[in-house]
Amino acid sequence: MARFGSRISLPVLSSYLALLLLTVASPALAAKKNLFKTCDSSPFCRRNREYADAASCVKSSIWDPPYYIDPLTVSFDSGLLQGSIFKTIPDADTPIEFPFQLVFLESGSVRFLVDEKQRAQASRLPGFPDNLTQRRYNEASKWAVVGDLTPDDSASESSTAEQRAEGVFKIKYGPEKHFEAILSCKPFRIEFFRDGEAHVVLNDRGLLNMDHWQPEPPASTDTNKNEQNEFAEDKEEETQDTKQQPIEAKGAPTSSEWQDKFGGFTDKKPKGPEAIALDITFPSYEHVFGIPEHADKFSLRETRGGEGNHDQPYRLYNVDIFEYEVDSPMAMYGAIPFMQAHKKSSSVGVFWANGADTWIDIIKSEPADNAFSLRKSTKTHWMSESGVLDVYVMLGPDASSVYQQYGALTGYTALPPIYALGYHQCRWNYNSEEDVLEVDAGFDEHEIPYDVIWLDIEYTEGKKYFTWWKSMFPTPEKMMQTLAKRKRKLVAIIDPHIKKETGYKVYENMSKNELAIKTSEGKEYNGWCWPGESAWIDTFSPKAIDYWKDQFKLGKFCGSEPNLLIWNDMNEPSVFNGPEVSAPRDDIHFGNFEHRDVHNIYGMTFVNATVQALQARQPRQRPFVLTRAFFAGSQRLGAVWTGDNAAKWEYLQIALPMILSHGVAGFGFVGADVGGFFGNPTPELLTRWYQAGAFYPFFRGHAHIESKRREPWLFGEPYTSLLRNAIRMRYQLLPSIYTAFHRASFEGVPVVRPMFLLAPDNEDALGIDDQFFFGETGLLVKPIVEEGKTETDIYIPDDEIYFDYLDQTIYQGIGYHHIDAPLDKIPILARGGHILVRRDRYRRSSSLMNHDPFTLVIHLDKTGNAAGVLYLDDGETTAHARGAYLYRFFIFNAQDNILRSRSMQPTNQNIKSYEKTIDTVRIERIIVVGFDKTQLKKSGAVESFQDRKSWLTEIDVTEAGDGKASVIVVRDPKVVVTGDWSIQF
Ligand SMILES: *[C@@H]1O[C@H](CO)[C@@H](O)[C@H](O)[C@H]1NC(C)=O
Ligand SMILES: *[C@@H]1O[C@H](CO)[C@@H](O)[C@H](O)[C@H]1NC(C)=O
Repeated sequence: MARFGSRISLPVLSSYLALLLLTVASPALAAKKNLFKTCDSSPFCRRNREYADAASCVKSSIWDPPYYIDPLTVSFDSGLLQGSIFKTIPDADTPIEFPFQLVFLESGSVRFLVDEKQRAQASRLPGFPDNLTQRRYNEASKWAVVGDLTPDDSASESSTAEQRAEGVFKIKYGPEKHFEAILSCKPFRIEFFRDGEAHVVLNDRGLLNMDHWQPEPPASTDTNKNEQNEFAEDKEEETQDTKQQPIEAKGAPTSSEWQDKFGGFTDKKPKGPEAIALDITFPSYEHVFGIPEHADKFSLRETRGGEGNHDQPYRLYNVDIFEYEVDSPMAMYGAIPFMQAHKKSSSVGVFWANGADTWIDIIKSEPADNAFSLRKSTKTHWMSESGVLDVYVMLGPDASSVYQQYGALTGYTALPPIYALGYHQCRWNYNSEEDVLEVDAGFDEHEIPYDVIWLDIEYTEGKKYFTWWKSMFPTPEKMMQTLAKRKRKLVAIIDPHIKKETGYKVYENMSKNELAIKTSEGKEYNGWCWPGESAWIDTFSPKAIDYWKDQFKLGKFCGSEPNLLIWNDMNEPSVFNGPEVSAPRDDIHFGNFEHRDVHNIYGMTFVNATVQALQARQPRQRPFVLTRAFFAGSQRLGAVWTGDNAAKWEYLQIALPMILSHGVAGFGFVGADVGGFFGNPTPELLTRWYQAGAFYPFFRGHAHIESKRREPWLFGEPYTSLLRNAIRMRYQLLPSIYTAFHRASFEGVPVVRPMFLLAPDNEDALGIDDQFFFGETGLLVKPIVEEGKTETDIYIPDDEIYFDYLDQTIYQGIGYHHIDAPLDKIPILARGGHILVRRDRYRRSSSLMNHDPFTLVIHLDKTGNAAGVLYLDDGETTAHARGAYLYRFFIFNAQDNILRSRSMQPTNQNIKSYEKTIDTVRIERIIVVGFDKTQLKKSGAVESFQDRKSWLTEIDVTEAGDGKASVIVVRDPKVVVTGDWSIQF
């Protein structure tokens, strides 16, 4: 949650916070502009942008970028092409050397890695601060990447000796050598081809730019240094001065960049400017996606101004941006520097493995007159404040392959425990044990299922984590035991800021053992957050991780029970009195790296430590941790939510594009606060939000401390029933949702899917981000996100047959189709060809459904076929990793009109023992939509076959007519889910 609640204690309101509060009282826009940097107030961004502008004014045949490769340094061996890039500097005899590697990976991706030679060497550079690590930070990949990074020696060189002599190196690689990388030395560029067509080009525009270490030039001792950041007039003057400069000079830092002042803070920059930048072009791709987190359209906009575009680059810098603006490229709580480009029948991706402040400009250029393709191309420009240049290129060929390739690098969504996919009830705050248990009982009274109730910061004694506010929570164990009776869980918040207070052991031992983030002077860094003065655990340190794990031990964390799970908030980190509401960039982390190098990674290391803590305390249970800050790889750890939104329609609208963006960037387990965090939703908004939220991968209602209570039954009828229906629909679909998460856990396919995943050829659908396909179900969902709206147009992206999920009305034909959507209706079409699996009985929580029978819902495609899968396990333990699960394939074949169930897993002992626990679970109902009853072999019945027996089951037939498809319902065919069976229609 963000900071401005009514419960802020007086001492916290010291002068600076009062100042902040004043800025917030002015319009939100102005407040944000003051608190957070723009590209102009970020010297490395402004400079690289000006460099790009200057370069684009010159014809490339005239401009000669200062970076080139000497072909004599280049060699290729066993999947690794390496050499050196050189930067010429005016008036210097020797160029600066940047060794590079182009690594061809077995997963089909290519890694391009560039370091700075002088800083990578062992001997100390004269003038380099001796208490900081000299090498550029090169561990972003270490934290983000879990895949194999060893070169694939099956990659082979395809360039001739002549081409090599001319400085052109060609390598064929990837599946059946369909991919080819072509590196040209001068001008330096790397093109990535698939089947003879270039899909990704690095340094297409020659914007590669890496600052090199040099001691602070004397001019910057001038007292005016860097003030142009804060005073526009100075900036103007400087622009005048630099107008006549050669283009190269625009790329080089001025002496002002050895120190950075912003918002009253001074960043000492002891290592000087060390930015990196590179342009990446996607030839004839008009749409790019990803790079969450931004509250913006799914298809990313251009960032250099113009109608409907942004004039600032998209920024990746984890910040606590409470009540964020929508339709903005501003930085938010998390950062995944992964971008996907999609065009007709083709998808590619790039991953920029860098954890520092990063800005990304996007422009789309018209095709050249003589161009082969008539499409625009997307040209991107990536700029990071520090670190090595480390970028991965994925060539698809389709979206699923891109996700698989990105997942092979950064890992996949951990399969969540099933309760985490149920409904979560949260509020800042449930104030006492009685409050918690009353809300818990309210769900049962109103027959609304839910799985988890949440505690925000107020449960603690003075915001000291691992303690309980005794007067309100005297017996937390008992409270959790009561919840456990319905197999429900409690999630409590634990943040990385640790209250600085004598006698508080968690702080004292952390401090004594120096496990906190340090200042540039090497002292413990203290700042303000919820508890007042605090220190931040430095989870880059293995000792700090061990210490953190220790705090959670069941015996040590008093009042905690096995059904207690964790929520990590404020882990950007949020520091109320820090620059950009975060830690100073010259703070120091484990390994003597500066905070600037690891800023976007910190939040992930903190969640990782929490996950390790939960695993250590209950090794057999799958952990659940929710985070607000994240980085590439965070998907391996748990769920994320989109932070502090508000109870306004535009936040309901923006949630979906945000969820789609997270999903394509590997982080599919995501949701937005249902109802809106700040403010009070109208009953209509709340209803529509539950209807949308029932399809968010992570489904949680949450509310700010100053908002009115809004538990799902508080608005009375018809709203209680509408909210109940939405939540129950979620629970019905849990088997299918769990199956989709299972697939995400090894293939990386998001649960909420953009149009292009099922209709990759339809370019008209690329900009559509207000509807989505849901998991494996084939359900095309378009939630209503506008006030007063009772109808909508839903876009069908392919020529498959679709059925209204609720009344079986048939829709067909690419384009928009009108559909009624009164307040009690969620517009959902079911795409022909899919079999979805439901559990239709109401239970109080998901774990109580474990032995309930299944319903199969079959929507036949144009040709009368359909297929689907079901993944099932115990839902909570790690036994599935040892094979204790069920994985079945259902197929309805139009040739013989037989529905078959087949196993998709190898048999082993663990399956057998798991199967035993569910061998009475049967399919209680089969619904077939779109089947022509004249095709029935026996009219009025179907014949089932299982275990060498056969029997007849009667059916109900609803005839087609009035635009609706026919429906056949088989009631209780008596087949059990664990075995193979078939049913003859
Ligand atoms: C590192 O050295 C600089 C300059 O010598 C000094 O100002 C700073 O306090 C030192 N920091 C640490 C962590 O010792
Ligand atoms: C968590 O961090 C450890 C290093 O402390 C690493 O080995 C592990 O892979 C990380 N876990 C996940 C799930 O990313």
